[in-house]
Amino acid sequence: MLLLCMTAFAQSPDFKILYGPYLQNVTTNEATVVWVTSHNAVSWIEVRPNDGTTFFDEAVVPRFYEDVDGRHKFGTVHRVTITGLQPGTSYRYRLCSKEVTALENYYVGYGKVRAIQATRNTTFRTLDTTKTKISFAVLNDVHENNEALEKLLKQEDLGALDFVFYNGDMVSNMFNEKQVFDGFINTSVKLFASHLPFFLARGNHETRGQFGNEYMNYFPTPTGHPYYTFRQGPVFFIVLDAAEDKPDNHDEYHGIVDYDKYRAQEAEWLKKVVASDECRQAPVRIVFMHIPPYPPAGYGDIQANKLFVPLLNQMGVDLMLSGHTHRYAYYPKGEGGDCQFPLLINGARQLLHVDVDGKQISMHITTVDGKSFKDIKL
Ligand SMILES: [Fe+2]
Repeated sequence: MLLLCMTAFAQSPDFKILYGPYLQNVTTNEATVVWVTSHNAVSWIEVRPNDGTTFFDEAVVPRFYEDVDGRHKFGTVHRVTITGLQPGTSYRYRLCSKEVTALENYYVGYGKVRAIQATRNTTFRTLDTTKTKISFAVLNDVHENNEALEKLLKQEDLGALDFVFYNGDMVSNMFNEKQVFDGFINTSVKLFASHLPFFLARGNHETRGQFGNEYMNYFPTPTGHPYYTFRQGPVFFIVLDAAEDKPDNHDEYHGIVDYDKYRAQEAEWLKKVVASDECRQAPVRIVFMHIPPYPPAGYGDIQANKLFVPLLNQMGVDLMLSGHTHRYAYYPKGEGGDCQFPLLINGARQLLHVDVDGKQISMHITTVDGKSFKDIKL
């Protein structure tokens, strides 16, 4: 349980950490922590090895800030990247936010209260490409149903996982920041996300609503886009985004989208991924894409099938994991249209547990009431 304490010179009950912290974009040598404060603040993170030492063991503990061209960023959303880490290593961190009460030409005023969040358990482990076995959980199409999310996550031994993957449509549309946090992040933080990262693929519903342009600000990726790659153990993961399921000129989008251009840019990026040593040399390649490229059901999946699947076939994909349809389906290699790889569509509010041991992929699916639903070994 996280402890929120105020290092107060005077009482200021209004300033506090509203949401988070949660881990994002963890790699072999970096990790980003995201949190939100109630008022504008400058924030930093202090990091120590997870070796029993405390933050007071050294006179100066290194601080990491979110900097923009050399300036510490002020705001309410804090995305601080910790750099210079070692692979497969556990670290302890604490975060600190200091309210900015005035910002003038030659003066910055700070509140007298610092919000500090830290516990013994606020730790994380960097990724490790030398691991031979990994495990992760996949959930999709939760659509803000926190009761289902919690029931599904509690079926897992979260401490034994390498990460959790949210494969799209965790929320239904977006009106504001609170809805996104209430939708699934707060439950994730309560159960695991301060010490175990989640990665996510954007779902088509997560492009919708007046807060849609802000959504990915809360989930930094290595590319700065909803499509990106990461590597853990033997697996090179490719996260793709088919965007919306209908044509750009559909009434539902009111003339504010150009996903045709976006998917074409993404395909150009994917060509470079296919040619990269990182991709070619990985023992296993697993792709996440919220909208499955098969069976053809809408404009978005037909475009994804046309643009991405030939490149994925060229790459030699071991498995694609999708959602979106809310119904389980599995198409072995060669049976999913143009896909020359197995395609598994996880049902809504089902938990997909994946173990990868060397080149062996084992999947176990359970329902929200904990019943065993399907086992597949590749
Ligand atoms: Fe969807």
